[in-house]
Amino acid sequence: MHPLSLLSYVTILGSVVAAPAGGIDIDTTSLVKRAESIHIVWCTPLPGEGSNSIPPFSAAVYCPNDSACQLPTSNNVCKIDPSQLGVGGPFSCKFPSGVTFTWNLSYEAGTAPKYSQVGGGTNGFKKFTGYKDDGHSFCSIGSYSCVTNYYFL
Ligand SMILES: *[C@@H]1O[C@H](CO)[C@@H](O)[C@H](O)[C@H]1NC(C)=O
Ligand SMILES: *[C@@H]1O[C@H](CO)[C@@H](O)[C@H](O)[C@H]1NC(C)=O
Repeated sequence: MHPLSLLSYVTILGSVVAAPAGGIDIDTTSLVKRAESIHIVWCTPLPGEGSNSIPPFSAAVYCPNDSACQLPTSNNVCKIDPSQLGVGGPFSCKFPSGVTFTWNLSYEAGTAPKYSQVGGGTNGFKKFTGYKDDGHSFCSIGSYSCVTNYYFL
């Protein structure tokens, strides 16, 4: 076979594989549904920040605009008490703003397919539907880098 054939094949395969993460989930829904979101993230110290002594944490992050949530303001970050982590629920976290987000996750959430519906929640103003996320790097909180495990739209 010609080298070009192989290249085309790899390119096509790459596009197909990349589509669910960057294309279908994020792009197609962002215009309407993904403006406002809440993510449940897992944050670990950035390299060089003494990762042995600083414990990681989970947080609920409120994003007024899901596409621009790389550096959430402190009012939009709610560190989740360890007792409020897991599947089932309801769980809750009170933001510094005074708003409480309450959510639940199905017992299958841990092993559910990426982007599938796994729960629900409310912040008192709006009801959200919860989805399993793909664990991509989502935001920075202080000297921590956070990946997203669930998102609520
Ligand atoms: C949300 O953020 C994206 C990326 O910065 C920007 O293109 C878009 O206009 C923003 N949407 C709103 C409603 O501000
Ligand atoms: C989970 O949350 C959804 C949406 O808020 C709600 O409809 C459902 O009753 C909740 N389930 C449990 C078990 O709390």
